[in-house]
Amino acid sequence: MAASATKQSLLMLASLLVLIGVATGSFYDSFDITWGAGRANIFESGQLLTCTLDKISGSGFQSKKEYLFGKIDMKIKLVAGNSAGTVTAYYLSSKGEKWDEIDFEFLGNVTGQPYVLHTNVFTGGIGNREMQFYLWFDPTADFHTYTVLWNPLNIIFLVDGIPIRVFKNNEANGVAYPKNQPMKIYSSLWEADDWATQGGKVKIDWTNAPFSASYKSFNDVDCCSRTSIWDWVTCNANSNSWMWTTLNANQLGQLKWVQDDYMIYNYCTDFKRFPQGLPTECNHN
Ligand SMILES: *[C@@H]1O[C@H](CO)[C@@H](O)[C@H](O)[C@H]1NC(C)=O
Repeated sequence: MAASATKQSLLMLASLLVLIGVATGSFYDSFDITWGAGRANIFESGQLLTCTLDKISGSGFQSKKEYLFGKIDMKIKLVAGNSAGTVTAYYLSSKGEKWDEIDFEFLGNVTGQPYVLHTNVFTGGIGNREMQFYLWFDPTADFHTYTVLWNPLNIIFLVDGIPIRVFKNNEANGVAYPKNQPMKIYSSLWEADDWATQGGKVKIDWTNAPFSASYKSFNDVDCCSRTSIWDWVTCNANSNSWMWTTLNANQLGQLKWVQDDYMIYNYCTDFKRFPQGLPTECNHN
């Protein structure tokens, strides 16, 4: 009698653990849908999220947690076909007038023409640090991993594990660095045909609506975060190595490959835009 009761409670405990295991990494647990009146949805027991855009509205979501450093992965599959005029934004941002922000934005295009991956970094409310890339694959054909590795030394943008951009901590040279303001993750699919595609020349073709972008395999295991503004930020990293990661020699080679072959805009080489001199960090790479 006692033995079977113990067995039963062990079984219950085991199934409880399985439930918890399944729930980890679920979009239900990690995100709130914040925009779009039903146009963003979670499927597959929390493992898949989609945002859609139609003529009336786009849609979006945000993380429940706030992060202060972390290595955050998301797999995204972008709007396929004629996606001209659509923008899928995926970014981290803090709040307030002097906010910090780390941006991935995917600018759609007409069928067969390349997406542009637009990146930016804001510190203390000031951005103007755009770098843009083509991708070495079709980002609409399948899911690809977009990673922000943000630690006290640098912010590394990675695509499928390949670094495409690094924003170093240049506080020693007087450049503000995001390190005090926790950020949430935000993503949205919206219309920006006044500027997004070929400089605004190509408009959205609404006959293709609703447009849809999908998300899966969110991973924030390595991070420092809090669940409410009343809490302290705590680090739940298994190992703290990511906290002090910078690019190794192999990754520096990959970065060079991407920047040589796929970068289409770099504010650090835009002398016309900065006639008084390039931003300080451009001279301290
Ligand atoms: C769209 O395709 C055109 C032509 O290939 C290209 O110049 C442009 O950079 C692409 N992306 C966007 C967002 O306009």
